Amino acid sequence: MIAIYPGSFDPITFGHLDIIERGGRLFERVIVAVLANPGKQPLFSIAKRVEQIRYCTDHIPNVDVDSFAGLTVDYAKLRNAGVLLRGLRVLSDFEKELQMAHTNKTLWDEVETVFLATTKEYSFLSSSIVKEIAQFGGSIDHLVPENVARDVYTFYQEKVKKD
Ligand code: PNS
Repeated sequence: MIAIYPGSFDPITFGHLDIIERGGRLFERVIVAVLANPGKQPLFSIAKRVEQIRYCTDHIPNVDVDSFAGLTVDYAKLRNAGVLLRGLRVLSDFEKELQMAHTNKTLWDEVETVFLATTKEYSFLSSSIVKEIAQFGGSIDHLVPENVARDVYTFYQEKVKKD
């Protein structure tokens, strides 16, 4: 069975990577799908995020990385994927995730959302936290893959020069 792992991944964290690695052991193929969301002002372009994720998932043979716009279920149908994979960190994630899973089911009743409990050590971790720490000059080396940390540091160094 093919699973889609949709998200913003701005940027990908070790928490996401954990879900991708474990998803890769459960499913025939995991397609990491970066949402082109016109409503959000991202740190990195879609192309950059796809490149970052490809680089740090290179060691997992059954993972593809792609981007999409529009509804996740439409993209899932396009890729013949019957499963949407999502990570659950804490109880507060649950409400939004359950709402999304139910919504997606109303849009396509054959789709199943599979939740993996995020590994405990990453239960606090989010892309927003990573950006906040880096913005104030803190280290994010323990939170994101090395290639991503480099890109985030560069982004904020260049921002400081511009401001
Ligand atoms: O990483 P995120 O921002 O938590 O991911 C959210 C995402 C991309 C999974 C969700 O916003 C999504 O599926 N958006 C696509 C639009 C859509 O299908 N909406 C209906 C389901 S709520």
